[in-house]
Amino acid sequence: MLKIAVFVSGRGSNLQSLIEKLDPKKAKVLAVVSNKSDCLAISYAEGLGIDTFIVNDKHFSDSLSSDEITEVLITKEIDLIVLAGYLKILPEIMVDKFENKIINIHPALLPAFGGKGMYGMNVHKAVFDSNAAISGATVHFVNKNYDEGKIIAQRVIDITNINSPEEIALRVLKIEHELLPYVVNCFADKKIFIKDNRVKISPLNGE
Ligand code: GRF
Repeated sequence: MLKIAVFVSGRGSNLQSLIEKLDPKKAKVLAVVSNKSDCLAISYAEGLGIDTFIVNDKHFSDSLSSDEITEVLITKEIDLIVLAGYLKILPEIMVDKFENKIINIHPALLPAFGGKGMYGMNVHKAVFDSNAAISGATVHFVNKNYDEGKIIAQRVIDITNINSPEEIALRVLKIEHELLPYVVNCFADKKIFIKDNRVKISPLNGE
């Protein structure tokens, strides 16, 4: 059983689609972590009876420090940390302890339109202003730099006839809701591995 912790900061639609589409025989969300105690994603997780944790929120009395949440995740024997709309950079200690076990979903085609400040609508506005013909979603490993870890999987959409950044956001979100569960289910099936410094998903790559 793949034990998962999901990190969120907002409405949690990716969290919801992930929980709905995970293979329950192979994977389970054991913890939901947020930097915001009052976000919709936390209420959703609480409603399902999933353990929730708030980190580094000075307005919340039970907030945990980076070291404390890292300890919680180690104690729970978490196999995979999924950043699903989490807007903070992860503490170094966590990135070190969970090397190659942290993934993020980004609402554009990395390595373009990533990095500091590139989150939420900022990403879609930049894509719209660039007049790019395509956008999409990327799931990638997380390292110490924003959006720079190795790419695991991407999905592309045609945006030549799009009229606003909001329209791009809506269409990208739809494919995020397919891509993230697909990748996590591949982890549960142990299909994802790193070989020759590249990320492979078997059997798609003939492995
Ligand atoms: C998603 O577009 C995600 O890719 C981005 O922030 C958004 C979060 O949406 N990083 P939700 O909270 O999953 O609804």
